[in-house]
Amino acid sequence: MGQPQQPDEAEAGAAVEKPDGARPPLGIGMVGYAFMGAAHSQGWRTVGRVFDLPRRPVLAAVCGRDGQAVRAAADRLGWAAAETDWRALITRDDVDLVDICTPGDSHAEIALAALAAGKHVLCEKPLANTVEEAEAMTEAAEAAAARGQVAMVGFNYRRVPATSLARKMVAEGRLGALRHVRVTYLQDWLVDPQFPLTWRLRKETAGSGALGDLGAHIVDLAQYLVGEPVVGVSALTETFVRDRPLPGGPTSGLSAVSANGVGQVTVDDAAVFTGRFASGALASFEATRYATGRKNVLRIELNGEHGSLAFDLERLNELEYHDHREPGTHAGFRRILVTEPDHPYLEAWWPPGHGLGYEHSFVHQARDLVTAIAEGSAPVPSFADGLQVQRVLAAVEESAAKNSVYTPIPS
Ligand SMILES: NC(=O)c1ccc[n+]([C@@H]2O[C@H](COP(=O)([O-])OP(=O)(O)OC[C@H]3O[C@@H](n4cnc5c(N)ncnc54)[C@H](O)[C@@H]3O)[C@@H](O)[C@H]2O)c1
Repeated sequence: MGQPQQPDEAEAGAAVEKPDGARPPLGIGMVGYAFMGAAHSQGWRTVGRVFDLPRRPVLAAVCGRDGQAVRAAADRLGWAAAETDWRALITRDDVDLVDICTPGDSHAEIALAALAAGKHVLCEKPLANTVEEAEAMTEAAEAAAARGQVAMVGFNYRRVPATSLARKMVAEGRLGALRHVRVTYLQDWLVDPQFPLTWRLRKETAGSGALGDLGAHIVDLAQYLVGEPVVGVSALTETFVRDRPLPGGPTSGLSAVSANGVGQVTVDDAAVFTGRFASGALASFEATRYATGRKNVLRIELNGEHGSLAFDLERLNELEYHDHREPGTHAGFRRILVTEPDHPYLEAWWPPGHGLGYEHSFVHQARDLVTAIAEGSAPVPSFADGLQVQRVLAAVEESAAKNSVYTPIPS
């Protein structure tokens, strides 16, 4: 697992007026323009106007399969050109970095080809649909690093200022030895059994269900905050609704409409697992799309010998902190409002108390990646980090298939 990025590294100076000519352009080519495509576009459009970057991201070209739809998306999202074949996109001279925002079944093929074409790569999570694909991608990324190319996975929740601050506080030893890591990622968009069988519900396109979609995020976030990998898991998974209507027409993110006909769901609807860290901390993870009333609830709590930290994505400008060394008379959880200029990423944003939102994690992701490219440093999370998460996901599936048998994760 690569070194977690220290929040200090994410604290560059506030934006300073510099002529565009002083910043060499960095051409971005993005594949996929729906949910993540829109979020990444927002990041690329905004980053250079907020942070003082050494290179200027240029939204060179976006790719989709439907010519009319991709041209409309290019206009809406701010891309200069549109392509209908990602193979054409990755060979364009004005594209330096390929940003992969497609379902998991195309991540490996596009990333391998882009690296072979000499481009930097940002790939959405989970890195791939299988460990084998992730291994090939990691090998290619490491070979490309020797040629000066970088590759990064889009685990954007590392880039919320409050989670970056939490990482910093854990690394400073404020919690002491960690005992517990408790993580949940809860959504409810699949509760309706009539919701159609989109790509997220088929193993051949998504790799796995709530596990790869939500579980990948919380495994990465937990490992980032703790600063070490999970070494073994015991798991249960379940598919609550096994047949669903086929989708009618294009789908986007978590929305779709049904057509006639029914198909089989071939992924998990929910995954619950426990895990161990090498240092002895115990972890619990829950990822589901069936938590009625919970829309996008990612919560993590760390308990250590000296104190605790808690984060909730629905209150993402806040971090809860308990210092157990304070006298019991007035010890207790307190709320840190993570909006100060000396908090991670916040030097470039608004005055204290004027909070950020979900989309800003994509701006910060773009900021860290552009900075790494300009400095010639290796950005994190690396493809090796993505592979390690993939190994955890595979171990969860293996354990669940054996009725929760403890399954070690190969390093
Ligand atoms: N970081 C996050 O918080 C987050 C959130 C949601 C999704 N994701 C990840 O982002 C990826 C995309 O998910 P999404 O929700 O944006 O999906 P989506 O269904 O909204 O969009 C997928 C896009 O990929 C395009 N596409 C599919 N195959 C293609 C191909 N062969 N060539 C060109 N375009 C192709 C589709 O046309 C569409 O534009 C997945 O890996 C998913 O796990 C990450």
